[in-house]
Amino acid sequence: MSPPVKDPRVITCKAAVAWGPGEALIMEEVEVDPPRPDEIRIKVICTSLCRSDITLWESKVHTPLFPRIFGHEASGIVESIGEGVTEFEEGDHVLTLFSGECMKCRHCISGKSNICETLGMERSGVMHSDKKTRFSIKGKPIYHYCAVSSFSEYTVVHSGCAVKISSAAPMEKVCLLSCGAAAGLGAAWKVADISKGSTVVIFGLGTVGLCVAQGAKLRGASQIIGVDTNPAKCEKGKAFGITEFINPNDCSEPVQQVIKRLTNGGADYSFECVGDTGVISTALQSCCDGWGLTVTLGVPKAKPEVSAHYGLFLSGRTLKGSLFGGWKPKSELPSLVDMYIRKEIQIDELVTHDMPFKDINKAFDLMREGKCLRCVIHVN
Ligand SMILES: NC(=O)c1ccc[n+]([C@@H]2O[C@H](COP(=O)([O-])OP(=O)(O)OC[C@H]3O[C@@H](n4cnc5c(N)ncnc54)[C@H](O)[C@@H]3O)[C@@H](O)[C@H]2O)c1
Ligand SMILES: [Zn+2]
Ligand SMILES: [Zn+2]
Repeated sequence: MSPPVKDPRVITCKAAVAWGPGEALIMEEVEVDPPRPDEIRIKVICTSLCRSDITLWESKVHTPLFPRIFGHEASGIVESIGEGVTEFEEGDHVLTLFSGECMKCRHCISGKSNICETLGMERSGVMHSDKKTRFSIKGKPIYHYCAVSSFSEYTVVHSGCAVKISSAAPMEKVCLLSCGAAAGLGAAWKVADISKGSTVVIFGLGTVGLCVAQGAKLRGASQIIGVDTNPAKCEKGKAFGITEFINPNDCSEPVQQVIKRLTNGGADYSFECVGDTGVISTALQSCCDGWGLTVTLGVPKAKPEVSAHYGLFLSGRTLKGSLFGGWKPKSELPSLVDMYIRKEIQIDELVTHDMPFKDINKAFDLMREGKCLRCVIHVN
């Protein structure tokens, strides 16, 4: 019997494949299928490493799915389009979206939500439409991550999981807006809606927390306290607008007590940007009675349950979660890219390292050791 005829549109390219939890990625030759209806295939230009990639790769509390291609904070160029795609053309510059927008479901048409029912965050390692993968190695399927998988020279995404951006935007910077930077800005502006003169405390000064800080500063917050266990974050925090820095390890009393004193009874807003549910409880205790609002953004590395004394809520605090800063990704992300082009928001200072694709494991090491903010990996 003759072997099955291979679709000539299948691409063979390099991808960094994770074969097991916490195992170094291996550069492999993978086959990437052509885009199916309503999908596009993208040539990835730059991808930055976000903490969520590390958390899911380590898979301590999340279902392990391997072999898998991680990466979800990326910029690229449309290489080919599937049947029925009208909003993209080959050559368009795009950002990938780890949580898409179908524009039709109950959530997409409501003004209240960015959690699309059809193209929301995909957790099973497959494509939304047919629950299959578009990557394989010698016929063996390779799982996706958030239906993006940007640690590959080419990837296939649903057309609702990418957004066209200005071709004037530098790909090696705006990729950060595809997840972490936008998540932090949106938490400050859309989710908390910080008002002028308010007091803010931010737990965790990575890219996400620093973007909450710049968002708070741009809204005119009077006091922005940054809390981080890494003392190296003090200086960077000040460059993004924090007015005070606290290292909880240097405190002789619980950090929430220090914050209550500094803010005369608790902050108006607190943000958890660590990925630690214990820190969510501390953040709740750090905001004030009556109207204190805690916004949690982190993806926990361990213990997924949050615990808090009910009295914190009886006395008027609110705990709010948020994905991608509450932005409707297709409708609202291009305006953030334009703000960056007009120099109204800071992104460049978040890029601490640039590296070629072959060195991707170095980016994982730097992030695990707390030695970087964003490493931008130049894929193509
Ligand atoms: N909700 C979303 O849409 C969204 C988007 C992007 C990232 N995330 C999540 O947000 C979190 C932050 O992401 P990031 O990329 O900025 O990560 P990061 O690792 O760069 O930053 C985390 C910071 O927290 C600090 N930290 C660790 N333990 C701490 C503690 N106990 N108290 C205070 N600070 C502590 C670290 O030193 C580091 O500076 C992660 O959990 C990530 O998965 C969520
Ligand atoms: Zn992310
Ligand atoms: Zn939708």
